[in-house]
Amino acid sequence: MTSATIEVHLVEDDLLSALRSDVLTGLTSSPKVLPPKWFYDARGSELFDQITRLPEYYPTRTESALLHRSAGEIAALAKPDILVELGSGSAEKTRTLLTALDSLRMFVPQDFSPAALEEAATAVKSEYPHLVVHGVVSDFTETLHNLPGGGSRMIAFLGGTIGNFAPDERAEFLSSIRAVLQPGEQLVLGAGLVIDESVLVPAYDDAAGVTAEFNRNVLRVINSRLGGNFDPDAFRHVARWDAQNNWIEMRLEATKAMTVRIEDLDLDVQFAAGEQMRTEISAKFTTDGLRSELATAGFETTHIWTDDLDRFALVLATAR
Ligand code: SAH
Ligand code: AVI
Repeated sequence: MTSATIEVHLVEDDLLSALRSDVLTGLTSSPKVLPPKWFYDARGSELFDQITRLPEYYPTRTESALLHRSAGEIAALAKPDILVELGSGSAEKTRTLLTALDSLRMFVPQDFSPAALEEAATAVKSEYPHLVVHGVVSDFTETLHNLPGGGSRMIAFLGGTIGNFAPDERAEFLSSIRAVLQPGEQLVLGAGLVIDESVLVPAYDDAAGVTAEFNRNVLRVINSRLGGNFDPDAFRHVARWDAQNNWIEMRLEATKAMTVRIEDLDLDVQFAAGEQMRTEISAKFTTDGLRSELATAGFETTHIWTDDLDRFALVLATAR
């Protein structure tokens, strides 16, 4: 049995210049904004894992139950040789697919966070020694074309991460997934559904304050990577439901007026007391909306599984 291999497409210099560019653009725009991918250093990935176990955060356990319910049917409908998982994180739920897909010979977890990827790839290899496990550390918005081929593939994109894209980026991303697949290859997509605000908001504003720490982690990442002097505790976590856009918006609100220095950018940023900066959107969908967005990207929806409370959808789609 050989160990899991890890391929790295993120060179530290490229990563830093991407962070510099996002922070410079985001902190000099009005209103200020930061992209959510910068939450995920080792601590951010660990905080996300804690979020998945919170009583208020229903998406993970709902999707997990849907995977258990559907895995046999998915295995009967699709016989992939290779399962590629985008934004795999701990790949905890993916085990259900790895167990059910008996045609599988290779698993390719892909993530932006080297720490999360390495842990997941090593654990999966020890639990599924018959699989070749080839982890890829990369940004899925840039390097999908580097994913291994050489057999029929299924791409999994779980957790509702599709909701973290803005609508135009989402359309582009689904098309870019379609572009790396051959007709007949499959996508398994997990997406949160539009539900009542009284359930949605607490899922993003938990009583224990873990999501608040996850939100503030982006400030810690800027401090450590770009020599920033943000005081994370001077920012209040805000989660609100935007019923026009059907998304949860996470923001950080300055609790007082302050100037933040970002040494590496030679940048001083003024915050007014009460000023809010957007750090994430988490869009929720309808099943008809998902079918239609997938059709636009070149997929035919084969099946959609939803839970009894219609909180989450798991979609099996085939590249046309
Ligand atoms: N799929 C897992 C993890 C979801 S958390 C689950 O369902 O629980 C979102 C994951 O996507 C994180 O592990 C994060 O590191 C990764 N991620 C976010 N933006 C990314 C990007 N641009 N490229 C690659 N991975 C990204
Ligand atoms: C990764 N992503 C799907 C999570 C979500 O629900 O949008 C990230 C998250 N943000 C706050 N809590 C969890």
